[in-house]
Amino acid sequence: MADKKKAVQWMMIAGGCSWMLLVTVLIALQPDSTVKGAPPPKAAVTSVTNQYVVLGYNDLGMHCMNQDFSEMCILPPFNTLRAQVIDRSGEDPRIVTSGVSVRYSIPGNTVSSNKTNFWTYSKPLFGVNIPANVGLTGSTLAGFMKPTGNNDWAAIGIPVTPLDDKKQLNAFQLSKIDVLVNKLQVATTSAVIPVSWEINCNLCHNTKGISVATDILRKHDKMHNTKLEASKPVLCAGCHADPALGTPGVKGVKSMSHAMHGSHSSRMAAVAGIGNTCYACHPGTATNCQRDVHFSKGIGCVSCHGDMSAVANPIRRPWVDEPTCGSCHQKRKPGFKFEEPGKLFKDSRGHGGVHCSACHGPQHATGPATTAADNVQAVQHQGHAGTITKCTVCHKKQPDEPFFHKIDD
Ligand code: HEC
Ligand code: HEC
Ligand code: HEC
Ligand code: HEC
Ligand code: HEC
Ligand code: HEC
Ligand code: HEC
Repeated sequence: MADKKKAVQWMMIAGGCSWMLLVTVLIALQPDSTVKGAPPPKAAVTSVTNQYVVLGYNDLGMHCMNQDFSEMCILPPFNTLRAQVIDRSGEDPRIVTSGVSVRYSIPGNTVSSNKTNFWTYSKPLFGVNIPANVGLTGSTLAGFMKPTGNNDWAAIGIPVTPLDDKKQLNAFQLSKIDVLVNKLQVATTSAVIPVSWEINCNLCHNTKGISVATDILRKHDKMHNTKLEASKPVLCAGCHADPALGTPGVKGVKSMSHAMHGSHSSRMAAVAGIGNTCYACHPGTATNCQRDVHFSKGIGCVSCHGDMSAVANPIRRPWVDEPTCGSCHQKRKPGFKFEEPGKLFKDSRGHGGVHCSACHGPQHATGPATTAADNVQAVQHQGHAGTITKCTVCHKKQPDEPFFHKIDD
């Protein structure tokens, strides 16, 4: 699929201040990306052979987004699905990165523009008019993945919301991922595309008579001498550097993560009643975004991340210095290798080059998960939830050699 890559200069005068932000956003407008509905591309489905297997996963265990962008934007609708395709016809499994098409869709969720007003405000917030139902990088709710150059395939920036077409709220919707060879479906799977807008700032920012966002902007103006309330809609990341959005921020202003966790760390007593106070802003006491094998063993946010002030530590690089599986598990399994040096869990590969998330699921959803949807793929492929442990999911026949938990044996 030849993409029309259009470099759009994204120039924004952020939030009423005179700081100017110059960012180049690459909008890869796909020729088949239609404005409304974006139905899954049609292909003749004849058979599912067992030559191929596909394992899908999200890049994050949860994507947060705002629903209403008329006043402020912390995060836009932006989700990323990945998949690894394995050809198991040969003596050894072969990871496939070309010669097939990898198609994705979200059954029962084909439109976003009637569920959020993101597209009304994309121009003032991001400097570009984006067609309805198209995401910031040109992805739509259904389409084809591209090879990542890191052994797998991805669709980046899918603008999915937590409301399905029946307007039912579901943070853990299942996407469908199909592998096609000459338009014939040869493998299929289902992977959760997690998204939530349960951001409970309202627990504390609830001044009578004004909206939650106005309360936040007004407090910001009063405490930091800004004019945000007068410059709605405000993109927080316009001034506060945010690796999640790739914005550099304004020099001298803290990153979004440092600003939020640092300033709020001493304020959390007010919500002690909700139990896990991270859920005051992260989704949330209704969503329970942490649904992994650790949850049932009593290991929560703080066991892996530390508390708010640890997250706000200025020497910590937001979105880069994250917990690693190896830091806790290496002692238990000395012969195992965990994250690749210098790489996060989400980008690391283990056994034979297979991505960690392909066998374990993404962070915060590592199997067996507490949510049925997150267990669907493992059940489909091997008959039970949890880590993919059944060798013949990928190997044509049971290997004679023992399993190795590292890239190379
Ligand atoms: C546990 C209560 C609590 C929660 C939850 C909370 N805030 Fe606050 N926030 C405060 C308090 C208290 C202040 C200070 C108000 C004051 O001193 O007038 C504040 C101030 C702020 C400010 C002003 C800048 C500063 O110095 O901190 C911003 C911006 C802000 N909050 C954003 C948010 C956002 C966005 C969320 C949700 C993602 C959120 N807050 C959730 C309690 C909370
Ligand atoms: C026009 C630029 C600008 C925009 C837009 C902006 N901020 Fe700020 N913010 C600042 C400045 C300047 C400060 C004070 C310097 C600092 O703390 O880095 C600040 C401080 C803060 C602080 C307090 C940090 C601390 O450690 O005391 C929080 C929290 C915060 N901003 C959150 C937000 C949120 C949430 C949004 C979006 C609703 C936002 N900001 C939008 C410029 C901005
Ligand atoms: C007052 C609101 C608030 C609370 C409470 C909060 N967070 Fe956050 N957190 C945010 C926001 C907003 C972002 C998104 C920042 C961005 O877009 O870069 C974020 C992002 C993060 C990130 C990713 C960015 C990074 O720094 O690596 C981590 C990790 C994180 N939070 C951990 C926690 C943990 C652990 C807790 C509880 C101890 C917690 N947060 C409580 C608001 C909050
Ligand atoms: C078992 C350890 C563990 C627990 C428990 C855990 N996290 Fe994480 N978290 C991680 C790891 C590992 C990463 C980074 C993975 C990567 O980027 O490859 C991460 C990343 C994040 C991020 C960045 C976005 C992402 O998904 O990569 C946020 C935000 C975050 N965690 C918040 C939380 C919150 C809030 C909780 C509790 C509700 C929590 N985490 C519980 C291990 C944990
Ligand atoms: C803060 C330390 C910590 C981190 C970080 C951590 N784990 Fe764990 N994990 C544990 C503990 C403790 C257990 C429970 C072990 C037990 O039951 O004895 C566990 C259990 C597990 C289990 C179940 C093992 C079994 O034998 O039942 C799996 C699978 C697992 N973790 C995978 C991961 C993955 C994948 C990551 C990285 C995304 C990770 N863990 C990060 C501490 C951690
Ligand atoms: C081919 C599938 C596969 C891949 C790829 C894979 N793992 Fe595993 N992983 C397993 C299996 C199977 C186990 C259980 C092994 C056992 O308990 O003997 C396991 C166990 C673990 C555990 C728990 C160890 C313990 O203490 O019980 C962690 C943590 C873990 N893997 C992390 C990772 C990371 C990080 C990567 C990527 C670098 C990765 N895995 C890649 C299959 C895989
Ligand atoms: C998710 C897919 C997947 C699963 C599950 C899996 N493997 Fe593999 N395995 C691979 C891939 C991919 C290779 C790399 C083949 C290559 O290097 O050409 C590989 C290679 C191997 C090799 C080395 C083959 C050789 O000849 O060098 C052995 C041995 C092996 N696996 C054993 C196992 C065992 C035992 C299990 C079950 C406990 C298992 N694998 C489960 C994907 C998988």
